[in-house]
Amino acid sequence: MTDEREMTPDQQDPQQDHLPQSAGHGAPGPTQDLAHAEADPFADPGLPAHQPRRTDIDERAARRAERQVASLFTISALATVAFCVAYFAIPKEDALTLPLFGDVNAQTFAFGVTLGAALFCLGAGAIHWARTLMTDEEIAEERHPLRSPEPDRQAAIARFEQGVEESGIARRPLIRRSLLGALGVLALPAVVVLRDLGPLPEKKLRRTAWADEEHRQLVNHNTGEPIKAEDVTVGSMLFAHPKGIDPDDLDEMAKSAVLLVRLEPDDIKNQREKDWGHEGIVCFSKICTHVGCPVGLYEQTTHHLLCPCHQSTFDMTDGGKVVFGPAARSLPQLAITVDTDGYLTARGDFAEPVGPSFWERG
Ligand code: FES
Repeated sequence: MTDEREMTPDQQDPQQDHLPQSAGHGAPGPTQDLAHAEADPFADPGLPAHQPRRTDIDERAARRAERQVASLFTISALATVAFCVAYFAIPKEDALTLPLFGDVNAQTFAFGVTLGAALFCLGAGAIHWARTLMTDEEIAEERHPLRSPEPDRQAAIARFEQGVEESGIARRPLIRRSLLGALGVLALPAVVVLRDLGPLPEKKLRRTAWADEEHRQLVNHNTGEPIKAEDVTVGSMLFAHPKGIDPDDLDEMAKSAVLLVRLEPDDIKNQREKDWGHEGIVCFSKICTHVGCPVGLYEQTTHHLLCPCHQSTFDMTDGGKVVFGPAARSLPQLAITVDTDGYLTARGDFAEPVGPSFWERG
């Protein structure tokens, strides 16, 4: 950037002859204008002469503008703090009625108003600062090659430092501090809303209702009746949940949901799977180990179990091993047996967390 008004004619770069010339210094007079216009009807008229603003000549006006800018930055900071207060103070379910908009969520409305006010006041303060207190002399900007020669680079640094000086940020600590304060607290909402990523699941996914003695019996998910081993036929698949759990407790229903398949015992390749089953009846978690969809498409001929979400495929004859798709680990198996009346029961809880692999590492 070059302010050509500060250059004497002998300092002018010959390559800049075509650039606009400032009218601030050495501007042509009316007679010269006329002669120039006749010689070149498209001549650059140059920049208008600089008109000093009130804040340039009146120190009291400058101080008033400074206070106005600082007030806007301070209001911005207060609005940002109000955003954080609204996050904690306004219940998520509260609503309020607004003309034209009807019922709106009170917390969302408060977020919009406070963050909007914070950003508006920050922008308005910056504009007011620039229009009233920073230097406003127009300059002609030179086009440079992509990398400027070293002297130009040094000149640019000098001009930048001059700009910093002219902005008055060093001389006006009130503006500097209020701006830094407003920018600093603007980071707070980003930190505060991180709270919405929680709460952490802790160890809740490591335990299901199957761990409790009174819930061990398997209940048919469709009929609500206990399941007799002799009623499960080869090739069939049943969905089940623990006896006696609250059907409205969706967390527990989801964690403990299982599926039962009866295979020919000789088809089972995995010895542990065979040991944890009962006469070919095997029981696995119904929750896919990819991202937790319920698996449920059973292919009788291949004994593959397919998750409809992303096509992870589990081999029911080989410990629920993944044979295709994005799931990273086998379906957890539930060890089962029968009680004295021949009803299927769990021997205990799953040996590993059910659901997406992430929880296994949690
Ligand atoms: Fe089952 Fe993605 S959730 S494959």
